[in-house]
Amino acid sequence: MMAEQGTMNYRGKGYRHGGSPAADMIRLGLDPGPVLDFSVNINPRGAPAPVRERWSEFYELIGNYPAIEGDGVTRFYEERFGIPRTRCLPGNGSTELIYMIPRVLGVEHAVVVTPSYHDYERATLLAGARVTRLRLSPEEDFAPLPVAVLSRALEEADAIWLGRPNNPTGTLAPKRDMVELAERHPDKWVILDEAFVQFLEEWQEESLLLEPPMKNVLVVHSLTKFYALAGLRLGAVVGHEQTISLLKQAKEPWTVNAVADRVATLIIGARDYDEESRRVIAQERDRVYTKLKEGPGYRPCNPTANFLLCRWEAGQDLDDLLRHLLVNGLYARDCRNFPGLEEGFFRIGVRRRAENDRLLEVLASAPGA
Ligand SMILES: Cc1ncc(COP(=O)(O)O)c(C=O)c1O
Repeated sequence: MMAEQGTMNYRGKGYRHGGSPAADMIRLGLDPGPVLDFSVNINPRGAPAPVRERWSEFYELIGNYPAIEGDGVTRFYEERFGIPRTRCLPGNGSTELIYMIPRVLGVEHAVVVTPSYHDYERATLLAGARVTRLRLSPEEDFAPLPVAVLSRALEEADAIWLGRPNNPTGTLAPKRDMVELAERHPDKWVILDEAFVQFLEEWQEESLLLEPPMKNVLVVHSLTKFYALAGLRLGAVVGHEQTISLLKQAKEPWTVNAVADRVATLIIGARDYDEESRRVIAQERDRVYTKLKEGPGYRPCNPTANFLLCRWEAGQDLDDLLRHLLVNGLYARDCRNFPGLEEGFFRIGVRRRAENDRLLEVLASAPGA
C-alpha cells in the first residue's frame, strides 16, 4: 500500500459514474441498443412490494411541501434500527450527505482509502480541502489496511473516508479496527460509508450504524441500493447527537421529497424482503465468484456485498472484453477510471440467477477465456 498526495482536481475526467451503456457502445463502434446492465449494483429484486402496490397514492403528496428534514426517513431509522432521531440526518440519497460532511465540518485534509467511490474525494476537494489517497493493494486482493497504517496516515490529516464494504473492491474493514482508529484519534473525523452494508449476511454484527455513538465517527447509509430506490433518492448519516446537530444546522430544507419520505415509512415493515434479498444475493454472488475463480481468464476479488470486482487476465485490452459483452447484450462497469484499477478491472453487480448464468456463459466465450 502507498500514500499518494494528489494534484487532484474535482473536475478531473476520472470522476465518472458508471451506467452509460449507450455512450460505451458508441465509443466501441457499436450501434446503441438495449442491454442487460451488470454495471449497476442495486438489489435485483426491485423495490419492496408495497412501494409498487401503493404507487398511485403518492400522487396526492406532490402538491404540498414535504417535511423539512425527511421525517419518514427518520422514522425508518428509528423504528427499524432503533436509531434515535437526534442521531440521524436524512438526505437526498447518501450522496447529498457525502458532499455536505466535509464542507460543514470544515475538513482541511482528508485521507481517502482507494480505490473507492469517487465522490469521497470529489466532495472533499469541493469543500476546499486536500486529499491523500491511501491505496489498497491489488496484489493482496485489496485486503483491509492494518489499523496502524490507517492511523499513521490520519496523523497528517483531519479526516478519513472509508467504504465498508468498499465499492468497487468489496473490502470490509473490520469493525473493531474502525473503533480503535476513532479512539486513537478523538480529534479527527472517521467517516464510514455503509451504503452497501445491508447486503452483508451478518450485517448487524458488522455495521457501525447500530453501535453506541462516538463523537468523531459518522456513518453514511443509503436506502437506494438495498431497497432498489435509486431514482427516489433517500439515505441518512448517523452519528453522535452533537455532530448530527452541527450538520442539521447547515442543512438545506426539503431535500427529501414527499414521495421518498412516504416510501421510507412503507419499507419499515419489509423484514421478509430484507432476509430474502440477503439470502438470494449471497447465494448468487458466491456461485458467480466460484465459477469465475475456477475458470480461466478472470481473477475475481473476494466479494462481500452484491457486486464483484474482477480482473480480466486473458487479454491485453479490456475494451475487447467490454465489446464482446455488449455484442452479446450485456454491460459491465469498466473500472479503469478508478485510480489503481487501470489494468483490466471491471465490476459486475449480482443479478437474478438466469441473468447471472447468461453473464457466465458470455464471459466464458470471451476471447482468450
Ligand atoms: C459506495 C457508495 N456510496 C454511496 C453511494 C450513493 O448512493 P445514494 O446517493 O443513492 O444513496 C453510491 C452510489 O453509487 C456508492 O457506490
